[in-house]
Amino acid sequence: MNSHILAIESSCDETAAAVILNGKTILSSSIASSTLVHKKYGGIVPELAAREQIRSIIPVLTEALAPLRTKNTNETYMQTIKRYIDAIAVTIGPGLIGSLLIGIETAKTISFATGIPIIPVNHVIAHMFANFIIQPSAVSRQPSANILEAESKRLIAFPAISLVVSGGHTELYVMKSIKNIQWLGGTLDDAAGEAFDKTARLLGFENRGGAAIQEAASQFSTTQNLKSKIKDQNSKITLPRPYLPDKPYSFSFSGLKTAAVRVVDSLKKQKQYKDETIQQCAYEIQESITDVLVRKTIHAAKIHNAHSILLSGGVASNTRLREKFEGAIQNSGISFRLFAPPFSLCTDNAVTIGIYASIFSTPISWNEITAVSNLSVEI
Ligand code: KG4
Ligand code: ZN
Repeated sequence: MNSHILAIESSCDETAAAVILNGKTILSSSIASSTLVHKKYGGIVPELAAREQIRSIIPVLTEALAPLRTKNTNETYMQTIKRYIDAIAVTIGPGLIGSLLIGIETAKTISFATGIPIIPVNHVIAHMFANFIIQPSAVSRQPSANILEAESKRLIAFPAISLVVSGGHTELYVMKSIKNIQWLGGTLDDAAGEAFDKTARLLGFENRGGAAIQEAASQFSTTQNLKSKIKDQNSKITLPRPYLPDKPYSFSFSGLKTAAVRVVDSLKKQKQYKDETIQQCAYEIQESITDVLVRKTIHAAKIHNAHSILLSGGVASNTRLREKFEGAIQNSGISFRLFAPPFSLCTDNAVTIGIYASIFSTPISWNEITAVSNLSVEI
């Protein structure tokens, strides 16, 4: 018998819903983002994110449920849900409390009205399951049918080291099997995504944090003569690499922002703060963050005799990071298999929530579900 999971994710500034069939097929995936609303404030304003999510949740659900409905039906959406959906997966944390509550209260209302149980999901841990999907490049705001990778579950050889790099987390896990996961270490202060976002704001990019840094960095490395710039010690911009040798699985990026502030101040004093130096700063910020992520992950992979390395979370969409991982794996002389989700499934989405729920199916009653803003990512 077919089993459908309706997944809902609203932990930060996205509102997302998806329907997953038999833990294998993505029947639909719908995402609304409030990024533009926050643009002029230089960061996500939780209250505004939650207000946008209240507005978006019904349209997003409507879009996600569309493939289950026949045209010109008199059936209500609750009736459709009752007819098809076996469980509702919802992010319960970590995240912004006001945002989490919108997804959770929606899930609880549906569960209360239909009797369908809820599967609570830790969205940071769910991120890594974006690697267990094939053909997902077509996943977009529009409902679409994609096949999940029963096949790729076989390709990911265990043990695997999983690096989850998002706006709020930089975490390393060892996966001994798909269900046997152990946290190794992670964020001590600012996460990698946060470092990208904060330094992007410092450099005057109003929006899109890491993606803006990546774009500016690539302008520096393609349009300038990178080698001669880097060789010219006078114009060289250098930032620290916080490797924390005593804490191989921990990450600390707060000092990077402080160092970048100093560089920007000094460039301004020397009247050297212009497009070219801004791009050079972006390049060096990206180099610093990606150097640290790559070195620590490869180290963890060697220590744990890993066969695969899995990247996930918003920062995993960084093309320089992917490129460096490929290079580092080649240089390591060990044939680790590298996995990174398609770009659309790196950042927050409901598909990964549904996939996680289909693997770790522990449905409970609606009145046992609560939002946990600081839900632990240590397992
Ligand atoms: O996983 P995600 O959507 O949300 C959280 O769970 O936090 O990650 C968002 C983070 C942001 O910090 C954003 O700047 C970063 O992912 N990000 C990137 C890129 N695209 C998004 N960082 C570096 N390079 C990118 N191309
Ligand atoms: Zn996330």
